[in-house]
Amino acid sequence: MKVYFEQIFAVTAPGLEEVCAEELRNIIGVDTSVEPGGVRFSGGLRELYLVNLHARIASRFLVYVGAIRARDFSTFYKRCVQLPWGRYLKKEMPVLIRASSRSSRLVHTGRLAETIEKAIHHSLGSFSASAAAGSGQLIVARMEGDLCRISIDSSGELLHRRGYRLQTAQAPLRETLAAGILKLLKWEGETALVDPMCGSGTFLIEGALIASHRPAGAKRGFAFMDWPRFRPGLWSQLQTEGERLTVEPTVTIQGSDADASAVEAAGMNLHRAGCFSQVALACRNIAAVKGVQGAGLVICNPPYGLRVGRDEDLVPLYRQIGDVYRQQFAGWKGALLCPPGRLADATGLKLKQVATLLNGGLRVTLFKVDL
Ligand SMILES: C[S@@+](CC[C@H](N)C(=O)[O-])C[C@H]1O[C@@H](n2cnc3c(N)ncnc32)[C@H](O)[C@@H]1O
Repeated sequence: MKVYFEQIFAVTAPGLEEVCAEELRNIIGVDTSVEPGGVRFSGGLRELYLVNLHARIASRFLVYVGAIRARDFSTFYKRCVQLPWGRYLKKEMPVLIRASSRSSRLVHTGRLAETIEKAIHHSLGSFSASAAAGSGQLIVARMEGDLCRISIDSSGELLHRRGYRLQTAQAPLRETLAAGILKLLKWEGETALVDPMCGSGTFLIEGALIASHRPAGAKRGFAFMDWPRFRPGLWSQLQTEGERLTVEPTVTIQGSDADASAVEAAGMNLHRAGCFSQVALACRNIAAVKGVQGAGLVICNPPYGLRVGRDEDLVPLYRQIGDVYRQQFAGWKGALLCPPGRLADATGLKLKQVATLLNGGLRVTLFKVDL
C-alpha cells in the first residue's frame, strides 16, 4: 500500500496554540510549527488517527489537499479538477465548501465554492449529492492573491464534541478550552482538582479524562472514517492501544455548584463520560466549600457580565470566591477564568494573567494565583 505523508493543520482557539503544539508533540513526537490559530505538522494516516483520537485541545485537524494558482475561474476550475480528490472523497459524497478570499481577483467566495464543488464531481465522475444545510464533508479553501490553498477536514464534528455531553447548564465551556486551560496551568492529573462552580462539569470531566489517560475521542466518530482509504484495522489497533494506556486515577476530583439542575447535568455528563465514580459532586454554595487535603488546583469560571449576570450584582460573589480560595485552599494553586477588571479585582487575590482566551465569543482572562 502506498504511504502518503500528509501536511496537517490543527485548528485551535486563540491563546491555545502553544499548549496544543506541546500536546501534539507528546502524542506523535513530531516537529510542529505554531501559527496564529493553529499548529502545522506532518504525518501519515497513523499520526492523523492518533491526533484525532488523543488530542484534547485542538478543534479540528485539516489535511492539505493542494494549492491552485489562478487569476480567472476557468483556470481555477481546470486546476481544481487535477487535485487528488479520490484520496479523500467517495463518489456522490456530499461536500460543504467553506471559501475565503483576500487580495484576489477571484473575490466571489460563493462562486469559488461552487467551482470547487463542480470540479470535485468532474474529477470523481459523480453527480452533485445534496447535503443537509451545514453538513457534508468539509473542505476549506483560502484564496490569497492568486494562490488558493485547499484542505479537507479529517475530524467531522468539532473535537470539543467528545460524545459525552448532552446536558448543559448556564454558559458551559467548550471541552477543548477546558482541557487547554488545565494544560496552561500545568495540571497533569497528578494533584487534586476542585471546581466549586462546576456548572455542567466540564473541568471535572476533562480533569478525570486527563488523570485516567483516557483518549478524548474514544466515544465518537471522525470524518476520515468515510474516506476511501480508511483503514479500520489500524484504527481499531490504535483504539485498543489507547484503552491499554488507561489507568484508575488516584487523585481527588471534586465539583459543586449552587444550582441543583447544574449538578444534575454534571452528574449525567460524568456518567456518559464513564468518570462518575472518579468525581465527588455536590450541590453547594461556594460559601460552604471546604478545603481538600494535599496539593491541588482550585479553579472556577464564575458568572460574569453580559453572559450570565450583571457585573455590579456579582461583586459580592467574587469577594466570596477570594475568601474561600484564601481560607480553604491555602498552599494550593488557584485559577479563575473571567474578564479582567472590577470583578477579578474584587477577589482581593494577587492574580497573575496566564492567557487571554475567547469563551463563547467573549474575551476573558485566565488568571492564576499561589494561595
Ligand atoms: C459560567 S457557569 C460555569 C460553567 C462551567 N464551567 C461549565 O463548563 O459548565 C457559572 C456557574 O456558577 C454557578 N454559581 C453561581 N453562583 C454560585 C455560588 N454562589 N456558589 C456556587 N455556584 C454558583 C452557577 O450556577 C453556574 O453553574
